[in-house]
Amino acid sequence: MTSYPHVRLRRTRTTAWSRALHREVEVTPADLIWPLFVTEGHDLEVPVASLPGVSRWSVDRIAAQARAAVAAGIPAIALFPNTQPDRRSHDGGEALNPDNLMCRAIRAIKDACGHDIGVLTDVALDPYTSHGQDGLIDDAGYVINDETVEVLVGQSLNQAAAGADIIAPSDMMDGRVAAIRAALEEAGHINVQIMAYAAKYASAFYGPFRDAVGSGGLLKGDKKTYQMDPANAEEALREVELDLAEGADSVMVKPGLPYLDIAYRVKQAFGVPVFAYQVSGEYAMIEAAVAAGAADRDKMVLETLIAFKRAGCSGVLSYHALHAARLLGA
Ligand code: PBG
Repeated sequence: MTSYPHVRLRRTRTTAWSRALHREVEVTPADLIWPLFVTEGHDLEVPVASLPGVSRWSVDRIAAQARAAVAAGIPAIALFPNTQPDRRSHDGGEALNPDNLMCRAIRAIKDACGHDIGVLTDVALDPYTSHGQDGLIDDAGYVINDETVEVLVGQSLNQAAAGADIIAPSDMMDGRVAAIRAALEEAGHINVQIMAYAAKYASAFYGPFRDAVGSGGLLKGDKKTYQMDPANAEEALREVELDLAEGADSVMVKPGLPYLDIAYRVKQAFGVPVFAYQVSGEYAMIEAAVAAGAADRDKMVLETLIAFKRAGCSGVLSYHALHAARLLGA
């Protein structure tokens, strides 16, 4: 076998042109999905304290955000509503209201941007329930699967009717992808995609997001009876296999960097489009390091994004998406 000194792996790293030539993967704005929070009111930008640099936008200002994403080359945004407290209830019925905050935001973006950008909508009841769980609960507080799936189907049809392009169930109920797919077909929404949050873990990294949608203070306990145990990887492959069999067009792994092994294994095992969600706690960690003078934001953001591509992801949901897209486009 040829070895040193004939083999010198540093040889191809000597110059920038050579490093560019030998680079195995790249990240472009087209790899990014930008999550956006929407709030009631007019002409509002409300900063999220635990997510410095991230705001909630009123519906009349959300289209401008989407246009900025289009201009930066971002192909899709993900929408999350901060439902006003008096519209939250035990059964999360506001999720089915065709004029809810989410539907108004979808319509505002689609009216402004049409096919220039894809709108991904989260399906789960936590922005609408008075208890902050993702589904209906029984007297003991247990999230009941099959009854919840029925509501999620209604929520999906509501979002699709408002113009959603990608339905993204994040609730981790069993059987919801098949039920949602069947209902979308039946209603004629044959080209509305499903990106399943297939391997979503019961994680400590979601805290700032729960502040942003206003469910954090309401939530008692945890989500461990439906979200996955961070110790499990084999089970993630079963989750993905089932969601694909039920008709998911793509699958998501969440959180992102701490679960890169899962994204890699899913890609290796199934060869399907895999997305990773670099979640709110991951964003907050980077921003905290930057604020502490311990990190260079631009370099750290781009390094984390390339890690997802190297692991085999088709794309990444990231609160840094607009910033990164502008860096990459420059
Ligand atoms: C709702 C949902 C959550 C996130 C996305 N959709 C929170 C949760 O499951 O509690 C987290 C996103 C983030 O932390 O950035 N089901």
